[in-house]
Amino acid sequence: MKVLIVGGGSREHAITYAFAKSSYEPRIYAISPLRNPGIEKLCKESGGELIRGDILNPEKVSETAEKLGVDLVFIGPEEPLFHGVSDALEERGIPVIGLNSKASEIERSKAFMRRLMWKYKIPGRLRFKAFRSIEEAIAYINEYAESVAIKPARQVGGKGVKVISDVQAYLRKVKEEVKKKHTELIYEKFMRSHDDVVDKILIEEKVEGPEYTVQCFTDGKTVKPLPIVQDNKHAFEMEMGPETGGMGSISGRGGLLPFITEDEFKESVRIIEEVVKALRKETGTSFRGIISGQMMLTTLWGPTIIEFYSRLGDPEAVNVLPILKTDIVDISEAILSEKLHKIRIYFEDYATVVKAIAPRGYPNRKDLARGHVIRVNEEKIKRMGAEIFYGSVDIVNGKLITGGSRAVEIFAKGDSIEEAAEIAEKAVSYVESLDGWGLFHRSDIGSGVSLRRMIEMANLVRSVYSYRKSKGLFGKQIDWIPGRGKIGYEF
Ligand code: GLY
Repeated sequence: MKVLIVGGGSREHAITYAFAKSSYEPRIYAISPLRNPGIEKLCKESGGELIRGDILNPEKVSETAEKLGVDLVFIGPEEPLFHGVSDALEERGIPVIGLNSKASEIERSKAFMRRLMWKYKIPGRLRFKAFRSIEEAIAYINEYAESVAIKPARQVGGKGVKVISDVQAYLRKVKEEVKKKHTELIYEKFMRSHDDVVDKILIEEKVEGPEYTVQCFTDGKTVKPLPIVQDNKHAFEMEMGPETGGMGSISGRGGLLPFITEDEFKESVRIIEEVVKALRKETGTSFRGIISGQMMLTTLWGPTIIEFYSRLGDPEAVNVLPILKTDIVDISEAILSEKLHKIRIYFEDYATVVKAIAPRGYPNRKDLARGHVIRVNEEKIKRMGAEIFYGSVDIVNGKLITGGSRAVEIFAKGDSIEEAAEIAEKAVSYVESLDGWGLFHRSDIGSGVSLRRMIEMANLVRSVYSYRKSKGLFGKQIDWIPGRGKIGYEF
């Protein structure tokens, strides 16, 4: 059996790792723009190889898959899905795990996702407005918007979101200016170069609470969740600094997190199931791959959708794939034959922690973060009981060079999140810069203080949404308009 992995980051390294463990002993190939040494090693050991290539070119990827005669393609990142790589493979009759381009709209266009949730009245939806022009967005902000999240209306690597609280009337003018500036920045920095979505700016009501990711396999009908994970997006300790693709993530024993109840997890999966059903109806297509809810526990709904991914998260995939017990080939076959409902998926019962290590400059100055020589002592990391998953790195003249994004991710497991975090933290010191350029990571991820903070936040949110539910106020929003009083919105 031969498989082809599309993509070359830590998530794809974890996908390759899962295939390398398969009892079917597949020959593994990968296509990636950079030479990820972890993926390359696993490919070689299996008798396959890593091929450098453009993963956004549907023709090139499907041609490569056909030439290699692979039995299965597994697509890691979202952009190849948006560019139609899955569609091109299907046209050639090559089995592929990866949503088709129509279904991946659930991630690509945040306005499409919100409209779908409203049209089908799916719980966990937020009020929003989408704008095709920057002028319209700014005019709306000046006139109406109070506490809001301003977002690029397309998926742009999880970046560009600005949440602004507008409660102090005396700061109103200043806040208006901040909102306007950020809207302009989103457009210039993230949206000007994308012409594949009509909406450019999304303004959503602001919500607060602990966030978590529910990743699911799907055959377009059934949804099977993986252990729930919390990603930590901010660059620096205790949620400071700019948003990144994710600086590290945690997952608890029993597939849960210490601040999310089993009922909340089930409700989150139910929301994703409803979205999959609506997506099938709306796109008129069958689709096979991954769908993940990036969620928040809010006072409005309890489990609430912030975004959808049409793929596994990164680093979230690195928490769960190393502890996957069920053979990934069997899971892939169940997805492809639309028999996912027949298979049970097992994981080792461990808490896991992933810590990303990035070169200084990431995420805002990738130009500065690129091109630095680093060294990884794999043997020492393994001896600590951790594993390394290579991310944005390349091999140039035999040297390991940073690619500008998160360079490596350290995975560790334990009986508790804190235990796994301690192991990962110690292993971080075996990743070094060789040219004096600084590397950074977050030491707070998985620590007792950070967990207690999440638990307290979740308890507070839970008590409010439970109260609202008991009063029949679930899914209702009340706005106060001076001079007109209360206006109740039914969702
Ligand atoms: N960890 C966030 C993402 O995968 O986009």
